[in-house]
Amino acid sequence: MLLHACCHNPTGADLNLEQWRTLLELLRRRRLVPFLDLAYQGFGAGLDADAAGLRLITEGLPESLVAVSYSKNLGLYRERLGALIVMGENDAAAQALQSQVLRIARGIYSMPPDHGAAIAAHIFAHPPLRAAWVIELEGMRTRIEAMRGLLAGHLRRSTGGAEFDFLEDQRGMFSQLGVSSDAVARLRERHHIYMVGDSRMNLAGIMPHNVEYVAESIASVLGA
Ligand SMILES: Cc1ncc(COP(=O)(O)O)c(C=O)c1O
Repeated sequence: MLLHACCHNPTGADLNLEQWRTLLELLRRRRLVPFLDLAYQGFGAGLDADAAGLRLITEGLPESLVAVSYSKNLGLYRERLGALIVMGENDAAAQALQSQVLRIARGIYSMPPDHGAAIAAHIFAHPPLRAAWVIELEGMRTRIEAMRGLLAGHLRRSTGGAEFDFLEDQRGMFSQLGVSSDAVARLRERHHIYMVGDSRMNLAGIMPHNVEYVAESIASVLGA
């Protein structure tokens, strides 16, 4: 079962701990293997908190796969930086899994690029650099959180309703407004606001000086 560990893309709707526990029971009962995709650690509730569900699942089951991407949280999108972690029930299973993974890697790319991993290794091995990264990441996280709050507030005022309040509760870079593709086209053509056709928007792209304009534009294309 493929799961996003935090900051679900495209919806921004994350599970809470109680829901992760329910999911763990389901995975156990159905004997399913989880494949956790962790691409936004540090963008949701914080570096540690964003891995809480993942820890619960991987500690509670004999086998799991975790794909970690550092593209976003280290700002190295074009370096192809990440890792696959495969957990086996015992040593023999882990060895067998490793040989399968190596066989697949050999067939796809053979040798991974090294530059992004070398940058990450350098940062993580030097405490002052790591500490600076943690501070910068937290700055980015709280900025997105603030934009979510501001946008939800302005939308409440512009639309006179609470239908976009979910933006404030959701996490990470993305949310889906839930408006039609026609409304998305009107936003683009009339207001020069760009998002994908299914109304997924990038909250990190909003600034304090334009958040009110974005809210008013959304309200206007909806006819509020
Ligand atoms: C949930 C999720 N996983 C993985 C990726 C891609 O990661 P990478 O840039 O390491 O290929 C993305 C988006 O870029 C994503 O949203």
